[in-house]
Amino acid sequence: MYLQLVLLALLVLVVSGVIAWRAMTAEPNGMNETVDQPVPFSHKHHVGDIGIDCRYCHASVETSAYAGMPSIATCMTCHSQLFSDQPMLRPLIDAWQSGVPLAWRRVNQLPDFVYFDHSIHVAKGVGCASCHGRVDRMPLMRRTQPLSMAWCLDCHRDPSLQLRPREHVFDMAWAPHDTRALGDALVETYRIDRRKLMDCSICHR
Ligand code: HEC
Ligand code: HEC
Ligand code: HEC
Ligand code: HEC
Ligand code: HEC
Repeated sequence: MYLQLVLLALLVLVVSGVIAWRAMTAEPNGMNETVDQPVPFSHKHHVGDIGIDCRYCHASVETSAYAGMPSIATCMTCHSQLFSDQPMLRPLIDAWQSGVPLAWRRVNQLPDFVYFDHSIHVAKGVGCASCHGRVDRMPLMRRTQPLSMAWCLDCHRDPSLQLRPREHVFDMAWAPHDTRALGDALVETYRIDRRKLMDCSICHR
Protein backbone atom coordinates (compact mmCIF):
# COMPACT_ATOMS: atom_id res chain seq x y z
CA MET A 1 0.00 0.00 0.00
CA TYR A 2 2.75 2.39 1.08
CA LEU A 3 4.86 1.55 -1.99
CA GLN A 4 1.88 2.11 -4.28
CA LEU A 5 1.30 5.57 -2.79
CA VAL A 6 4.94 6.53 -3.30
CA LEU A 7 4.81 5.33 -6.90
CA LEU A 8 1.60 7.25 -7.48
CA ALA A 9 3.13 10.43 -6.04
CA LEU A 10 6.20 9.98 -8.25
CA LEU A 11 4.00 9.50 -11.30
CA VAL A 12 2.06 12.70 -10.53
CA LEU A 13 5.34 14.59 -10.13
CA VAL A 14 6.74 13.35 -13.44
CA VAL A 15 3.54 14.05 -15.37
CA SER A 16 3.14 17.58 -14.00
CA GLY A 17 6.83 18.20 -14.66
CA VAL A 18 6.40 17.19 -18.29
CA ILE A 19 3.28 19.36 -18.68
CA ALA A 20 5.01 22.39 -17.16
CA TRP A 21 8.07 21.89 -19.34
CA ARG A 22 5.95 21.65 -22.47
CA ALA A 23 4.01 24.79 -21.54
CA MET A 24 7.24 26.70 -21.04
CA THR A 25 8.92 25.59 -24.23
CA ALA A 26 5.87 25.52 -26.53
CA GLU A 27 5.58 28.22 -29.17
CA PRO A 28 2.40 30.34 -29.27
CA ASN A 29 -0.41 28.27 -30.70
CA GLY A 30 0.14 27.20 -34.26
CA MET A 31 3.39 29.05 -34.80
CA ASN A 32 5.70 27.42 -37.34
CA GLU A 33 3.14 24.72 -38.03
CA THR A 34 1.90 24.06 -41.54
CA VAL A 35 -1.82 23.94 -42.32
CA ASP A 36 -3.57 21.33 -44.47
CA GLN A 37 -4.72 23.04 -47.66
CA PRO A 38 -7.01 21.80 -50.48
CA VAL A 39 -3.92 21.87 -52.76
CA PRO A 40 -0.37 21.63 -51.34
CA PHE A 41 0.71 24.98 -52.81
CA SER A 42 4.44 25.71 -52.55
CA HIS A 43 5.73 29.28 -52.22
CA LYS A 44 9.22 27.82 -52.51
CA HIS A 45 8.47 26.60 -56.06
CA HIS A 46 6.36 29.51 -57.23
CA VAL A 47 8.28 32.37 -55.59
CA GLY A 48 11.75 30.99 -54.87
CA ASP A 49 12.30 28.84 -58.00
CA ILE A 50 10.01 30.37 -60.66
CA GLY A 51 10.24 33.93 -59.31
CA ILE A 52 6.58 35.02 -59.44
CA ASP A 53 5.98 38.36 -57.69
CA CYS A 54 3.77 38.40 -54.55
CA ARG A 55 1.40 40.90 -56.20
CA TYR A 56 0.55 38.49 -59.01
CA CYS A 57 -1.45 36.47 -56.45
CA HIS A 58 -1.92 38.86 -53.52
CA ALA A 59 -3.05 41.70 -55.74
CA SER A 60 -4.57 44.12 -53.21
CA VAL A 61 -1.69 44.15 -50.72
CA GLU A 62 -0.53 47.64 -51.76
CA THR A 63 -3.96 49.22 -51.91
CA SER A 64 -6.09 47.73 -49.13
CA ALA A 65 -6.09 46.32 -45.61
CA TYR A 66 -6.52 42.81 -47.00
CA ALA A 67 -3.68 41.29 -49.06
CA GLY A 68 -6.06 39.35 -51.31
CA MET A 69 -5.98 35.71 -52.35
CA PRO A 70 -5.56 34.37 -55.90
CA SER A 71 -8.59 33.21 -57.84
CA ILE A 72 -8.49 29.83 -59.56
CA ALA A 73 -8.27 31.70 -62.86
CA THR A 74 -4.92 33.11 -61.70
CA CYS A 75 -3.56 29.58 -61.18
CA MET A 76 -5.06 28.41 -64.47
CA THR A 77 -3.11 30.94 -66.55
CA CYS A 78 -0.34 28.36 -66.15
CA HIS A 79 -2.01 25.17 -64.95
CA SER A 80 -4.63 24.83 -67.68
CA GLN A 81 -1.62 23.48 -69.60
CA LEU A 82 1.09 22.86 -67.05
CA PHE A 83 0.92 19.66 -64.91
CA SER A 84 -2.88 19.67 -65.30
CA ASP A 85 -2.86 15.85 -65.25
CA GLN A 86 -1.00 15.62 -61.92
CA PRO A 87 -3.02 14.11 -59.04
CA MET A 88 -1.78 16.90 -56.77
CA LEU A 89 -3.57 19.45 -58.95
CA ARG A 90 -6.83 17.46 -59.14
CA PRO A 91 -8.74 19.65 -56.58
CA LEU A 92 -7.67 22.74 -58.55
CA ILE A 93 -8.94 21.36 -61.86
CA ASP A 94 -12.19 20.17 -60.20
CA ALA A 95 -12.74 23.62 -58.69
CA TRP A 96 -12.10 25.23 -62.08
CA GLN A 97 -14.64 22.96 -63.77
CA SER A 98 -17.32 23.20 -61.06
CA GLY A 99 -16.88 26.92 -60.38
CA VAL A 100 -16.67 26.33 -56.61
CA PRO A 101 -13.61 28.23 -55.33
CA LEU A 102 -10.90 26.52 -53.28
CA ALA A 103 -11.27 27.12 -49.55
CA TRP A 104 -7.77 28.13 -48.47
CA ARG A 105 -7.38 27.84 -44.71
CA ARG A 106 -5.95 30.78 -42.78
CA VAL A 107 -2.37 30.68 -41.53
CA ASN A 108 -2.10 34.17 -40.00
CA GLN A 109 -5.21 35.49 -38.30
CA LEU A 110 -5.80 38.28 -35.80
CA PRO A 111 -8.81 38.40 -33.47
CA ASP A 112 -11.77 40.47 -34.77
CA PHE A 113 -11.15 43.30 -32.30
CA VAL A 114 -7.76 44.13 -33.84
CA TYR A 115 -7.47 46.38 -36.88
CA PHE A 116 -4.63 45.68 -39.30
CA ASP A 117 -3.88 47.21 -42.69
CA HIS A 118 -1.38 45.88 -45.23
CA SER A 119 -1.29 48.93 -47.49
CA ILE A 120 0.08 51.32 -44.85
CA HIS A 121 2.88 48.93 -43.92
CA VAL A 122 3.83 48.45 -47.57
CA ALA A 123 3.70 52.21 -48.19
CA LYS A 124 6.04 52.86 -45.24
CA GLY A 125 8.63 50.30 -46.30
CA VAL A 126 7.93 47.33 -44.00
CA GLY A 127 8.93 44.21 -45.96
CA CYS A 128 6.70 41.13 -46.29
CA ALA A 129 9.61 39.11 -44.87
CA SER A 130 9.62 41.16 -41.64
CA CYS A 131 6.22 39.73 -40.71
CA HIS A 132 5.97 36.52 -42.77
CA GLY A 133 9.57 35.29 -42.89
CA ARG A 134 11.39 33.78 -45.89
CA VAL A 135 8.24 32.78 -47.76
CA ASP A 136 10.39 31.96 -50.82
CA ARG A 137 11.89 29.04 -48.86
CA MET A 138 8.61 27.56 -47.62
CA PRO A 139 7.37 24.39 -49.38
CA LEU A 140 4.25 24.89 -47.20
CA MET A 141 3.20 28.16 -45.61
CA ARG A 142 3.65 28.65 -41.88
CA ARG A 143 3.29 31.52 -39.45
CA THR A 144 6.69 32.78 -38.34
CA GLN A 145 5.65 35.51 -35.87
CA PRO A 146 3.48 35.43 -32.71
CA LEU A 147 1.13 38.25 -33.95
CA SER A 148 0.66 39.18 -30.30
CA MET A 149 0.10 42.76 -29.14
CA ALA A 150 3.61 42.79 -27.65
CA TRP A 151 5.00 41.81 -31.04
CA CYS A 152 3.17 44.63 -32.86
CA LEU A 153 4.24 47.17 -30.23
CA ASP A 154 7.82 46.02 -30.32
CA CYS A 155 8.12 47.35 -33.85
CA HIS A 156 5.77 50.33 -33.39
CA ARG A 157 7.88 51.57 -30.47
CA ASP A 158 10.95 51.84 -32.71
CA PRO A 159 10.28 50.88 -36.34
CA SER A 160 13.53 52.34 -37.64
CA LEU A 161 15.46 49.04 -37.72
CA GLN A 162 12.65 47.36 -39.67
CA LEU A 163 12.30 49.87 -42.50
CA ARG A 164 13.59 49.50 -46.05
CA PRO A 165 13.33 51.50 -49.25
CA ARG A 166 9.86 50.86 -50.71
CA GLU A 167 11.23 49.21 -53.83
CA HIS A 168 12.58 46.36 -51.66
CA VAL A 169 9.34 45.55 -49.79
CA PHE A 170 8.69 42.42 -51.87
CA ASP A 171 12.32 41.36 -52.00
CA MET A 172 12.74 38.33 -49.75
CA ALA A 173 16.54 38.41 -49.67
CA TRP A 174 17.07 42.14 -49.06
CA ALA A 175 19.46 42.97 -46.24
CA PRO A 176 20.60 46.47 -45.28
CA HIS A 177 24.22 47.58 -44.96
CA ASP A 178 23.82 50.02 -42.11
CA THR A 179 20.39 49.40 -40.62
CA ARG A 180 20.25 52.22 -38.06
CA ALA A 181 21.47 55.01 -40.36
CA LEU A 182 19.18 53.94 -43.21
CA GLY A 183 16.21 53.36 -40.87
CA ASP A 184 16.53 56.75 -39.19
CA ALA A 185 16.67 58.43 -42.60
CA LEU A 186 13.56 56.52 -43.71
CA VAL A 187 11.65 57.51 -40.55
CA GLU A 188 12.19 61.10 -41.75
CA THR A 189 11.40 60.45 -45.41
CA TYR A 190 8.20 58.50 -44.65
CA ARG A 191 7.20 61.00 -41.91
CA ILE A 192 6.62 58.25 -39.36
CA ASP A 193 5.05 59.50 -36.17
CA ARG A 194 6.19 57.13 -33.41
CA ARG A 195 3.90 58.60 -30.73
CA LYS A 196 0.82 57.89 -32.82
CA LEU A 197 1.97 54.31 -33.37
CA MET A 198 1.60 53.47 -29.65
CA ASP A 199 -1.96 54.81 -29.46
CA CYS A 200 -4.48 52.09 -28.47
CA SER A 201 -7.06 53.44 -30.92
CA ILE A 202 -5.06 52.77 -34.09
CA CYS A 203 -5.37 48.99 -33.55
CA HIS A 204 -8.53 48.89 -31.44
CA ARG A 205 -11.05 51.07 -33.28
C1 HEC B 1 1.27 31.91 -57.61
C2 HEC B 1 0.50 32.52 -56.56
C3 HEC B 1 1.19 33.08 -55.31
C4 HEC B 1 2.32 33.89 -55.24
C5 HEC B 1 3.20 34.38 -56.36
C6 HEC B 1 2.49 34.20 -53.84
N1 HEC B 1 1.51 33.58 -53.10
FE1 HEC B 1 1.24 33.74 -51.10
N2 HEC B 1 -0.33 32.42 -51.20
C7 HEC B 1 -0.81 31.84 -52.36
C8 HEC B 1 -1.83 30.85 -52.02
C9 HEC B 1 -2.58 29.96 -53.00
C10 HEC B 1 -1.95 30.86 -50.61
C11 HEC B 1 -2.88 29.98 -49.75
C12 HEC B 1 -2.22 28.64 -49.50
C13 HEC B 1 -1.12 28.71 -48.48
O1 HEC B 1 -1.34 29.18 -47.36
O2 HEC B 1 0.03 28.31 -48.84
C14 HEC B 1 -0.99 31.87 -50.13
C15 HEC B 1 -0.81 32.20 -48.80
C16 HEC B 1 0.07 33.18 -48.34
C17 HEC B 1 0.19 33.61 -46.96
C18 HEC B 1 -0.60 33.07 -45.80
C19 HEC B 1 -2.01 33.62 -45.81
C20 HEC B 1 -2.70 33.39 -44.50
O3 HEC B 1 -3.72 32.70 -44.46
O4 HEC B 1 -2.19 33.87 -43.49
C21 HEC B 1 1.16 34.58 -46.92
C22 HEC B 1 1.64 35.31 -45.70
C23 HEC B 1 1.66 34.74 -48.27
N3 HEC B 1 0.96 33.89 -49.10
C24 HEC B 1 2.67 35.61 -48.60
C25 HEC B 1 3.22 35.70 -49.87
C26 HEC B 1 4.38 36.52 -50.19
C27 HEC B 1 5.14 37.38 -49.20
C28 HEC B 1 4.63 36.35 -51.52
C29 HEC B 1 5.76 36.95 -52.35
C30 HEC B 1 7.09 36.78 -51.79
C31 HEC B 1 3.63 35.42 -52.03
N4 HEC B 1 2.80 35.04 -50.99
C32 HEC B 1 3.51 35.01 -53.35
C33 HEC B 1 -0.42 32.13 -53.64
C34 HEC B 1 0.69 32.89 -53.97
C1 HEC C 1 3.33 31.54 -63.72
C2 HEC C 1 2.90 30.16 -63.80
C3 HEC C 1 2.24 29.51 -62.60
C4 HEC C 1 1.17 29.98 -61.87
C5 HEC C 1 0.41 31.28 -62.02
C6 HEC C 1 0.88 28.93 -60.89
N1 HEC C 1 1.75 27.90 -61.03
FE1 HEC C 1 1.74 26.18 -59.94
N2 HEC C 1 3.42 25.55 -60.92
C7 HEC C 1 4.06 26.22 -61.93
C8 HEC C 1 5.26 25.48 -62.31
C9 HEC C 1 6.25 25.89 -63.40
C10 HEC C 1 5.32 24.35 -61.47
C11 HEC C 1 6.40 23.28 -61.40
C12 HEC C 1 7.35 23.70 -60.32
C13 HEC C 1 8.47 22.77 -60.13
O1 HEC C 1 8.26 21.55 -60.11
O2 HEC C 1 9.59 23.27 -59.96
C14 HEC C 1 4.12 24.39 -60.64
C15 HEC C 1 3.77 23.42 -59.73
C16 HEC C 1 2.61 23.40 -58.98
C17 HEC C 1 2.18 22.32 -58.12
C18 HEC C 1 2.89 20.98 -57.97
C19 HEC C 1 3.65 20.94 -56.70
C20 HEC C 1 4.78 21.88 -56.72
O3 HEC C 1 4.70 22.88 -56.01
O4 HEC C 1 5.73 21.65 -57.48
C21 HEC C 1 1.01 22.71 -57.52
C22 HEC C 1 0.18 21.91 -56.54
C23 HEC C 1 0.70 24.03 -58.01
N3 HEC C 1 1.69 24.41 -58.91
C24 HEC C 1 -0.41 24.77 -57.64
C25 HEC C 1 -0.68 26.07 -58.07
C26 HEC C 1 -1.77 26.88 -57.57
C27 HEC C 1 -2.79 26.44 -56.53
C28 HEC C 1 -1.69 28.07 -58.21
C29 HEC C 1 -2.57 29.29 -58.02
C30 HEC C 1 -2.63 29.83 -56.65
C31 HEC C 1 -0.54 28.03 -59.11
N4 HEC C 1 0.05 26.79 -58.98
C32 HEC C 1 -0.16 29.04 -59.96
C33 HEC C 1 3.64 27.41 -62.52
C34 HEC C 1 2.60 28.21 -62.06
C1 HEC D 1 3.53 44.49 -40.31
C2 HEC D 1 3.38 43.07 -40.54
C3 HEC D 1 2.99 42.57 -41.90
C4 HEC D 1 3.56 42.89 -43.11
C5 HEC D 1 4.68 43.86 -43.41
C6 HEC D 1 2.89 42.06 -44.11
N1 HEC D 1 1.92 41.30 -43.51
FE1 HEC D 1 0.69 39.98 -44.41
N2 HEC D 1 -0.33 39.67 -42.67
C7 HEC D 1 0.02 40.25 -41.46
C8 HEC D 1 -1.02 39.95 -40.48
C9 HEC D 1 -1.02 40.41 -39.03
C10 HEC D 1 -1.98 39.15 -41.14
C11 HEC D 1 -3.30 38.62 -40.56
C12 HEC D 1 -4.34 39.71 -40.80
C13 HEC D 1 -5.69 39.50 -40.17
O1 HEC D 1 -5.98 38.44 -39.62
O2 HEC D 1 -6.51 40.42 -40.28
C14 HEC D 1 -1.51 38.99 -42.52
C15 HEC D 1 -2.17 38.28 -43.51
C16 HEC D 1 -1.70 38.10 -44.81
C17 HEC D 1 -2.37 37.33 -45.84
C18 HEC D 1 -3.71 36.62 -45.71
C19 HEC D 1 -4.80 37.55 -46.28
C20 HEC D 1 -5.03 38.76 -45.43
O3 HEC D 1 -4.78 39.90 -45.91
O4 HEC D 1 -5.46 38.62 -44.27
C21 HEC D 1 -1.58 37.39 -46.96
C22 HEC D 1 -1.86 36.74 -48.31
C23 HEC D 1 -0.44 38.24 -46.65
N3 HEC D 1 -0.55 38.65 -45.33
C24 HEC D 1 0.54 38.59 -47.56
C25 HEC D 1 1.48 39.60 -47.35
C26 HEC D 1 2.38 40.14 -48.39
C27 HEC D 1 2.44 39.69 -49.82
C28 HEC D 1 3.12 41.12 -47.77
C29 HEC D 1 4.17 42.03 -48.38
C30 HEC D 1 3.69 42.97 -49.39
C31 HEC D 1 2.69 41.19 -46.38
N4 HEC D 1 1.70 40.27 -46.16
C32 HEC D 1 3.21 42.08 -45.44
C33 HEC D 1 1.13 41.01 -41.20
C34 HEC D 1 1.96 41.57 -42.16
C1 HEC E 1 8.01 45.41 -38.46
C2 HEC E 1 7.36 46.60 -38.01
C3 HEC E 1 5.86 46.58 -37.73
C4 HEC E 1 5.12 45.55 -37.19
C5 HEC E 1 5.58 44.18 -36.75
C6 HEC E 1 3.77 46.04 -37.13
N1 HEC E 1 3.69 47.31 -37.61
FE1 HEC E 1 1.99 48.43 -37.78
N2 HEC E 1 3.06 49.95 -38.60
C7 HEC E 1 4.43 49.96 -38.82
C8 HEC E 1 4.80 51.18 -39.50
C9 HEC E 1 6.22 51.58 -39.92
C10 HEC E 1 3.61 51.92 -39.70
C11 HEC E 1 3.45 53.27 -40.42
C12 HEC E 1 3.48 54.39 -39.43
C13 HEC E 1 3.19 55.77 -40.03
O1 HEC E 1 2.61 55.85 -41.09
O2 HEC E 1 3.57 56.74 -39.37
C14 HEC E 1 2.53 51.11 -39.12
C15 HEC E 1 1.21 51.51 -39.10
C16 HEC E 1 0.16 50.75 -38.58
C17 HEC E 1 -1.22 51.17 -38.58
C18 HEC E 1 -1.78 52.45 -39.17
C19 HEC E 1 -1.63 53.60 -38.24
C20 HEC E 1 -2.36 54.79 -38.79
O3 HEC E 1 -1.67 55.72 -39.20
O4 HEC E 1 -3.57 54.78 -38.79
C21 HEC E 1 -1.93 50.14 -37.98
C22 HEC E 1 -3.44 50.11 -37.75
C23 HEC E 1 -0.98 49.12 -37.61
N3 HEC E 1 0.28 49.53 -37.98
C24 HEC E 1 -1.33 47.95 -36.98
C25 HEC E 1 -0.44 46.93 -36.67
C26 HEC E 1 -0.81 45.69 -36.01
C27 HEC E 1 -2.19 45.33 -35.51
C28 HEC E 1 0.34 44.96 -35.91
C29 HEC E 1 0.52 43.58 -35.32
C30 HEC E 1 -0.41 42.54 -35.75
C31 HEC E 1 1.41 45.72 -36.52
N4 HEC E 1 0.91 46.92 -36.96
C32 HEC E 1 2.72 45.29 -36.63
C33 HEC E 1 5.30 48.95 -38.50
C34 HEC E 1 4.96 47.70 -37.97
C1 HEC F 1 0.00 48.05 -32.88
C2 HEC F 1 -1.28 47.50 -32.56
C3 HEC F 1 -1.81 47.56 -31.14
C4 HEC F 1 -1.82 48.63 -30.31
C5 HEC F 1 -1.27 50.02 -30.55
C6 HEC F 1 -2.52 48.21 -29.11
N1 HEC F 1 -2.90 46.89 -29.24
FE1 HEC F 1 -4.01 45.83 -27.88
N2 HEC F 1 -3.87 44.17 -29.10
C7 HEC F 1 -3.23 44.12 -30.31
C8 HEC F 1 -3.26 42.76 -30.80
C9 HEC F 1 -2.65 42.26 -32.09
C10 HEC F 1 -4.00 42.00 -29.85
C11 HEC F 1 -4.36 40.51 -29.94
C12 HEC F 1 -3.27 39.72 -29.27
C13 HEC F 1 -3.50 38.23 -29.31
O1 HEC F 1 -4.38 37.72 -29.99
O2 HEC F 1 -2.70 37.57 -28.62
C14 HEC F 1 -4.37 42.92 -28.79
C15 HEC F 1 -5.11 42.56 -27.65
C16 HEC F 1 -5.53 43.44 -26.68
C17 HEC F 1 -6.38 43.10 -25.57
C18 HEC F 1 -6.95 41.73 -25.28
C19 HEC F 1 -5.92 40.96 -24.50
C20 HEC F 1 -6.26 39.51 -24.42
O3 HEC F 1 -5.44 38.81 -23.79
O4 HEC F 1 -7.24 39.06 -25.00
C21 HEC F 1 -6.54 44.23 -24.82
C22 HEC F 1 -7.37 44.37 -23.54
C23 HEC F 1 -5.78 45.29 -25.46
N3 HEC F 1 -5.18 44.78 -26.59
C24 HEC F 1 -5.69 46.58 -24.99
C25 HEC F 1 -4.85 47.56 -25.54
C26 HEC F 1 -4.63 48.90 -24.93
C27 HEC F 1 -5.25 49.38 -23.65
C28 HEC F 1 -3.79 49.56 -25.79
C29 HEC F 1 -3.17 50.95 -25.60
C30 HEC F 1 -2.31 51.09 -24.46
C31 HEC F 1 -3.51 48.67 -26.91
N4 HEC F 1 -4.17 47.48 -26.70
C32 HEC F 1 -2.74 49.02 -28.00
C33 HEC F 1 -2.64 45.18 -30.97
C34 HEC F 1 -2.48 46.45 -30.46
